[in-house]
Amino acid sequence: MLRKLEPDDYSEYLSAYYAEGIRRFGANWRYADIVTVLLALAVDLKPKSYLEIGVRRGRSVCTVASKAPTCDIYMFDMWVANYAGMENPGESLVSSELDKVSHTGKRIFTNGNSHSTLKTFFRQNSDLAFDMITVDGDHTRNGAIEDLCDVLPRLKIGGAVVFDDICHPKHRYLEDVWKELVVNDNRFTSWSCADIGYGVGFALRKW
Ligand SMILES: C[S@@+](CC[C@H](N)C(=O)[O-])C[C@H]1O[C@@H](n2cnc3c(N)ncnc32)[C@H](O)[C@@H]1O
Repeated sequence: MLRKLEPDDYSEYLSAYYAEGIRRFGANWRYADIVTVLLALAVDLKPKSYLEIGVRRGRSVCTVASKAPTCDIYMFDMWVANYAGMENPGESLVSSELDKVSHTGKRIFTNGNSHSTLKTFFRQNSDLAFDMITVDGDHTRNGAIEDLCDVLPRLKIGGAVVFDDICHPKHRYLEDVWKELVVNDNRFTSWSCADIGYGVGFALRKW
């Protein structure tokens, strides 16, 4: 999937890392990140609706779309310039990337700061709920808390929420945010990987 997309420094590094892990350890390799988690969830849950905060160059939305090509995708980003040292041009790049994975579902872009756009969007779409949601936008402690609190009520029962970077060295507090808001909430059954890479967590909503 990554090879189909516009290359950048990070995706090239990651592709080489995956290849080396598989070469060395084959099926015994224990590794997870946002891409592998989204890929597995999209295969298992076959989402019809997906919301993502923090789209950047489209890698994570394309991961979901590659396995659920008819899924409607709701994307929230403020396209911070030069994010992580790479161009972050926005809708046009993401749309052309989605074409490459043969996505045919709806694509709804909401541009701007998620802390205002999400609230407005949910007010205007009071019945909308999602099969899968990823929170990977504002990485400040309070920003991540606000994003999670805004989206969790819109996750369908049986749906999955994914939270990235829970052991990122620059955002150590994200693991606590994830634990406090999701892992410790008995509406969810959760799984976290915080011992390799930048870490990722996902949770399924039970009720
Ligand atoms: C870590 S990147 C997302 C990476 C993407 N999910 C992937 O896996 O390739 C974070 C993105 O969130 C966006 N972002 C950061 N703060 C935001 C905010 N408050 N509102 C909306 N988008 C934000 C940035 O512009 C950036 O594109």
